[in-house]
Amino acid sequence: MKILIKNIKELVQVEQTPRLKVCGTDMAKMATVKEAYLIIEDEMIADFGEMKNLKEQRFDQEVDATGRMVFPSFCDSHTHLVYAGSREIEYIDKIRGLSYDEIAKRGGGILNSAKRVQEASEDQLYEDAMLRLDNIIRYGTGAVEIKSGYGMTTEAEMKMLRVIRRLKENSPLTIKSTLLGAHGIPMEYRGRQEKFVDLVIDEMIPQAAAEGLADYIDVFCDEGFFTVADTERMLEAGIKYGMRPKIHANEMARSGGIQCAVRYNALSCDHLEYTGPEEIEALKGSETMPTVLPGAAFFLNMQHAPVRDMMEAGLPVAMASDYNPGSSPSGNMQLVLSFACVNYRMLPEEAFNATTINSGYAMGVSNELGSIAVGKRANFYITKPIATYEYMPYAYGENKVETVFLNGKQY
Ligand code: NIG
Ligand code: FE
Repeated sequence: MKILIKNIKELVQVEQTPRLKVCGTDMAKMATVKEAYLIIEDEMIADFGEMKNLKEQRFDQEVDATGRMVFPSFCDSHTHLVYAGSREIEYIDKIRGLSYDEIAKRGGGILNSAKRVQEASEDQLYEDAMLRLDNIIRYGTGAVEIKSGYGMTTEAEMKMLRVIRRLKENSPLTIKSTLLGAHGIPMEYRGRQEKFVDLVIDEMIPQAAAEGLADYIDVFCDEGFFTVADTERMLEAGIKYGMRPKIHANEMARSGGIQCAVRYNALSCDHLEYTGPEEIEALKGSETMPTVLPGAAFFLNMQHAPVRDMMEAGLPVAMASDYNPGSSPSGNMQLVLSFACVNYRMLPEEAFNATTINSGYAMGVSNELGSIAVGKRANFYITKPIATYEYMPYAYGENKVETVFLNGKQY
């Protein structure tokens, strides 16, 4: 099957030589081709260039994109989108002044979702998550990482991971799965948290590994949650089973999580609201992608991660949705672009790099996704008619995506 997308007003985020990530001042650069064509063969990008250079050839399908732009699909490297029920009651508590931490201490928050996930059937979790996937696809996402973490028991964690496996098998999205056994501390383990860490190490990690259910291992390493010492024990156990770390760090405090991520060669460390010069120094020269979750910072009204300082230090920055019922009930990556520009003062180019190539790196797929390059997987979207690519973050709240292609097929 050979498809031509022709008369593209601007083909965005093209690469002649694909990079795995984009760092520092390079983040402000993004290559495009105006008046372009894009050729798809089977599941892959076969060619692109200027319309005037398009050679005469036969296509099975032609799509006229006059007035429209083409972008590589977003990579959303951090979500918790398998969950049961929503949590708007806590949202009201937050409006009335309770903090995320206070809600968690009262048994709300993550524990609230855990109770509902434990009670939900695997089929129900699967169907609800599939609807969420359909929704994020329509907003331009082409790859997504999904975490467990609302299980809290070995049984419920494995149930969540099996749901993610079914999503992998049946969704056209590229999906990576992460075991987040240590997301919260169950009530019965309060005061003897190390026993829960033992459970993660002795049961959850080996069982997930035995069934091949997890690509990565995550820990909520932060003040009030798991300590650096707890985190180290769990990461070491996960690494033995081939699960590379991707951890939640420095959302509540400068808790040492970032340095811990770097020591264990984590693929990413995520949230990072509390990041200072030492943390930035630790990240320099590492293979760990600093990943910021603007939706959670917006929804919880938190201080913002020092993204400009990171880029000025030469670091790459990725951004993801954190789609989950407690701190970011949206997987809309177009909104993440807008948050990046408004709340973090990123240039549109920086925001696109953060949500495509760099977020692709943060979930281990930037070799095959995250830009328009020959040989990469044909996951991209065609916009509605728009004047400039800057319109994407500018026109916040509106869905600018008109047509989606995943694996070379129109969705
Ligand atoms: O990434 N910070 C920890 N975990 C999630 C929140 C999960 C929840 O509140 O349900 C997050 O924001
Ligand atoms: Fe998260």
